[in-house]
Amino acid sequence: VVVIRHRMKITNRCTSAMGILRDFKDKSDTPISKLRQVADAMTVEMHAGLASEGASKLKMIISYVNNLPTGDEHGIFYALDLGGTNFRVLRVQLGGEEGNVGEPEFEEVSIPSNLMTGTSQDLFDYIAKALAKFISTEGENFRLSDGRQRELGFTFSFPVKQMSIASGTLIKWTKGFSIDGTVGKDVVTELTDALERQGVDMRVAALVNDTIGTLAGGRYENNNVVAAVILGTGTNAAYVERANAIPKWQGLLPKSGEMVINMEWGNFKSAHLPTTEYDIALDCDSLNPGEQIYEKLISGMYLGEIARRILLKMAREAALFGDVVPSKLETPFTLRTPEMSAMHQDSSSDLKVVGTKLKDTLGITSTSFRTRVIVVEVCDAIAKRGARLAAAGILGILKKMGRDTVVGKESGEIQKTVIAMDGGLYEHYTAFSKCLEDTLEELLGKEVSNCVDIVHANDGSGIGAALLAASHSQYLEGGDQ
Ligand code: GLC
Repeated sequence: VVVIRHRMKITNRCTSAMGILRDFKDKSDTPISKLRQVADAMTVEMHAGLASEGASKLKMIISYVNNLPTGDEHGIFYALDLGGTNFRVLRVQLGGEEGNVGEPEFEEVSIPSNLMTGTSQDLFDYIAKALAKFISTEGENFRLSDGRQRELGFTFSFPVKQMSIASGTLIKWTKGFSIDGTVGKDVVTELTDALERQGVDMRVAALVNDTIGTLAGGRYENNNVVAAVILGTGTNAAYVERANAIPKWQGLLPKSGEMVINMEWGNFKSAHLPTTEYDIALDCDSLNPGEQIYEKLISGMYLGEIARRILLKMAREAALFGDVVPSKLETPFTLRTPEMSAMHQDSSSDLKVVGTKLKDTLGITSTSFRTRVIVVEVCDAIAKRGARLAAAGILGILKKMGRDTVVGKESGEIQKTVIAMDGGLYEHYTAFSKCLEDTLEELLGKEVSNCVDIVHANDGSGIGAALLAASHSQYLEGGDQ
């Protein structure tokens, strides 16, 4: 009798956890018809954001980049990339013998979490120190030609209201950052002051978002790159717009007739987005409630946390992990997206990786196979929703650009559209990227999809920032200064 009761109990638990899973799947469902609505809403918001400041949740920031790299850039340039869990410093020789980008030398430093919520000066001093150290290892023989000042492309991956190519004020922090006193300040001044404090003589020649850097880096490699998407800690996109299609642009029309727009699509919001109780609670508890809603459904900072919340409910209400709710499961952000991805993509027949990850990250020592299957299904449902919504966003951009159809059929010269992608989520979570690509193909149809390529612009944003520093160098004839 005891044995039977025990069995019944386990069956009930799983049924109930299955019920919670089914409910999440229903509410987070993204059929193609819904994705089309999301894409249309994205296009509408893009128009609104370009029309006037503050008219949309989409900031559609004018980047002041109206010329993308041509391949003529040359010299030694630096880039500093700040915006995720790590920041990097790199130096690159442009226009070497083959007119190529030399092998960049870089150093990656993780940002201590206390600095993400500390003071502005501490953060910028930390960065400037890392840059000073990087330069100090260049060695005696290292010289820029003619005693030139070093020049830097600063990739700062947060919403910035640009005033020029090399200045801009922080609109708000996103992702895990929340530092008093930086909002409203020019981040180039902040960095330059910190560099001075460290005795580094360097000029910030370009301030760019990571999407803009990736677009520039991608274009350098491939002339057909017209948009860039970041899927990492956060998510965002940039694309090349016609300057005369930007009503809020007050300046002269650039010669190229083009302007790159940083959409800040992470802040997109629409009634069509399939949000659930878990997303609402996550948003409420976040550092920026009500903001970055699209990002909170898609990006690497949040996917693992959504999984944790669903598993917690299963543990509490269906005793998925036994009679005691594992205490680590109650702590926000203990389940990170890389672990979620490893569990999701566990190909072993007994789901061994799932077992190990649950043990190592959440202290759950023993699980049944059935429990591990449920965990994988939770990860799958969350990743699928994120990837499919990101694909819908890309369709929105393609529509805005008039590239959701085959272009150039009449002339016989069919136009290729290439989207440069980067970010840890895209790079490492293969099930996510594959789902995104498949969904985009499904949305576009075979014929159009053959004209649209997604390329991985590995580290494009750092190199792109260095390229933009080069094209805005003070030493160029007719340059910035
Ligand atoms: C966040 C930032 C945005 C950045 C993106 C990807 O959404 O606000 O500026 O591009 O993360 O790093």
